Amino acid sequence: MTSTKYRPRTIPITEIEQSAFCRSTSSLKSKTLAEELKAGVRWQTIPAEYRTLESDQVVERIRDARAKLGERIMVLGHHYQRDEVIQFADFRGDSYNLSKYAAETKGLEAVIFCGVHFMAETADVLTDSDVSVILPNLMAGCSMADMAKIDDVEDCWDELTEVYGNEKIIPITYMNSTAAIKSLCGENGGIVCTSSNATKVFEWAFERGQRVLFLPDQHLGRNTGLKLGIPSDEMVVWSPFKGSGGNSLEQLQKAKVVLWEGHCSVHTRFTVDQVQIARGKHPSVNVIVHPECPQDVLAAADMNGSTELIIKTISEAEAGTEWAVGTEISLVNRLAKEHPDKTVFCLDPVVCPCSTMYRIHPTYLLWVLEALNDGVIVNQISVDKNTQKNALVALERMLNVN
Ligand code: 13P
Ligand code: SF4
Repeated sequence: MTSTKYRPRTIPITEIEQSAFCRSTSSLKSKTLAEELKAGVRWQTIPAEYRTLESDQVVERIRDARAKLGERIMVLGHHYQRDEVIQFADFRGDSYNLSKYAAETKGLEAVIFCGVHFMAETADVLTDSDVSVILPNLMAGCSMADMAKIDDVEDCWDELTEVYGNEKIIPITYMNSTAAIKSLCGENGGIVCTSSNATKVFEWAFERGQRVLFLPDQHLGRNTGLKLGIPSDEMVVWSPFKGSGGNSLEQLQKAKVVLWEGHCSVHTRFTVDQVQIARGKHPSVNVIVHPECPQDVLAAADMNGSTELIIKTISEAEAGTEWAVGTEISLVNRLAKEHPDKTVFCLDPVVCPCSTMYRIHPTYLLWVLEALNDGVIVNQISVDKNTQKNALVALERMLNVN
């Protein structure tokens, strides 16, 4: 067996920067960009005149710039975006629904994707070639997606296919991954999933092969495997920094699921202790968490599901019910505001927005809209043709599973 090369462990900069916006006060109100630029993270350079604009000037100018562009463009807002950005979204949704909506709307010149980099790439793959997809701040990545680099994934894939020989292994990648990884899946009989269809996608894969390689979130992969009755000792973690992913040949041969060693720096903040504290303070509380949380947190919660499922469950719940939520704080705060008849709060007492989503400050939205009005496309996200072709194969397989 050829063993993958040893690589020194590296932590994505997006992971290191995750805590930069954490605070103990509950307000997430935006400050001027000049103030926010003081947080110790990388921001994309923006023309100086934008940095000192006051919030009300920004709002007024966004309204004007947006109105001038009319139906030529669409502004998409992920559920984890700040309220000051969400107010300008023509459509609000999860990563998958946003891209699907953009692809189904015809006649657009540009899509302004207020989300993170992998989402804008997916929108570029799914929309017609004459639509420009724009990410207002190019530094808005995703720490989980950054944990799976295509070179490392290719090495892993080569080694696994050699180990398993004629026994088929199906690669599944979570939507939160680069287009290059979606393309590798498309090219090798694999598929994309989201947190709302991961179970169905696993079933699809096991109808076609004996094993699954799941990228890049080990927690969503493990939680889905357990849901399907796969024992934990038949799931191994593949570390890109260790020979053979840190596994013996015997372990790999016993494994039904190989989980990439990636995680979400926001959802791994949730703990069983937080669940117990919430239950202690609110004896009739319902605990609902996202499946990117670790397995013990899911086991301690009452329910788990995608952002869409969390929103639907709380929206449809009876007045007077109490909800402790394990997902990104901007969404939790918005749910609390939209449902004043229910008690909705975040499991984590520290207010820690997803620091990459948070980089879409309204001033960046203003900058790209005003540039469009001047005939300039800034921050276009373009996936090359070949990558696009195979990524689309993997995405279309997922669409057919739904
Ligand atoms: P959704 O797929 O629900 O949009 O979630 C994306 C994400 O980044 C969750 O952390
Ligand atoms: Fe990525 Fe986690 Fe932020 Fe989602 S919440 S975009 S998975 S870092």
